[in-house]
Amino acid sequence: MAAGARSDTAAVSIPMSVTDVSDEALRVVATGIPELDRVLGGGLVPGSVTLVGGEPGIGKSTLLLQLLGQMSQAGATSLYITGEESASQVKVRAGRVGAIHADLWLVAETSLPNVIAHIDSVKPEVIVVDSVQTMHDPMLGSAPGSVAQVRECTAQLLGVAKSRGISLVLVGHVTKEGTLAGPRVLEHIVDTVIEFEGDRHHGLRILRATKHRFGPTSEVGLMQMADTGLSTVDDPSGSFLADRVSGVSGSAVVPTIDGQRPLLIELQALVAGSSLATPRRSAQGVDPGRLAMLLAVLERRVGLAVSSCDVYALAVGGARITDPGADAGLAMAVASSLTGNPVADDLVVFGEVGLGGELRQVGHQARRLAEASRHGFRRAIVPNSAVEAPEGLMVMRAPTLAAAVALAEIGPA
Ligand code: TYD
Ligand code: MG
Repeated sequence: MAAGARSDTAAVSIPMSVTDVSDEALRVVATGIPELDRVLGGGLVPGSVTLVGGEPGIGKSTLLLQLLGQMSQAGATSLYITGEESASQVKVRAGRVGAIHADLWLVAETSLPNVIAHIDSVKPEVIVVDSVQTMHDPMLGSAPGSVAQVRECTAQLLGVAKSRGISLVLVGHVTKEGTLAGPRVLEHIVDTVIEFEGDRHHGLRILRATKHRFGPTSEVGLMQMADTGLSTVDDPSGSFLADRVSGVSGSAVVPTIDGQRPLLIELQALVAGSSLATPRRSAQGVDPGRLAMLLAVLERRVGLAVSSCDVYALAVGGARITDPGADAGLAMAVASSLTGNPVADDLVVFGEVGLGGELRQVGHQARRLAEASRHGFRRAIVPNSAVEAPEGLMVMRAPTLAAAVALAEIGPA
């Protein structure tokens, strides 16, 4: 840590005019995993603490072992502390993913004082603690895994990382409620929170920063899990659309924007007659509230009777859609399933749907259209005010969702 920067807690800080405070650029060390570097804005900042969360089996241990392998390869000493697997299990995995390197140290340990002693002896520049929930301090009365233990162990490790300029990466399991290590106890104290998500049964994995003190949180990383670990996906849109079947109703392709990256995602819906007083609604990868709103708009503004039907909606391939531009696609998938008329193969659609049934402009239109064109789509249904289409793509402007349904020729006969 540079002289004059905040170092240990005993030193007294001196207030300064903001004009005099040093704005020396943060040193960022590339992790050697391009998709992770993209999310981190270049790499890890020495002395920072990063929490990586995700469901069991998603690939957190694999990713971080690869990270240490890469960083050791680049000349850093790294230490992997495993509280869940034995050192030999980790070694077997390291072999699979090509992370065997003499500067990568392993230790199976769960007791915090021992962990700190290991850090003292190895003197690593990067540490992975897998997982923070398995660490415990025998000085505390509470049981391992309890919120008090997790918080205290993290606080102590954080002190060690900050005072020695070590990049610390903590693995955190996502609890049933979807929070990292208890009721968001860790998110406050760490510098960066990265969520690792995806469908465990598909190869695709998405990395997303939900908090980042050193840069924007808008970038996402896309990786795929194979036999030799995680790797960059060359053509993410292509892999999301790989298993698409043509001529089936209830499917629409949307050029979404995730971070800065355009991604073609297939949205599917299945509408079925319901025998329930309150019809069933299921949403996977799409927001249930958004789905309910679109169903109401379809019923009231487009005149499609969906309110008494069961509706299942999903984003294919484990994608999770937060982009409002996907509204029109989701609504079209529902409309198509209801009428049985498939959306044409060469057609994409995007636009936010308003409560009046109008189709509204969304950001990054040119990028969305370019991605669709690059993947061979020929027509796009877009809001009225949308930009001109790139060559080879025809835009069809629809002021309303009803107009979009008509243009796509998926309305009732
Ligand atoms: P893991 O990293 O152990 O997940 P987590 O730490 O998040 O619980 O990886 C889980 C799955 O990944 C496991 O079921 C096996 C699979 N996997 C591969 O498909 N290829 C590989 O090269 C490795 C190491 C794991
Ligand atoms: Mg693991």
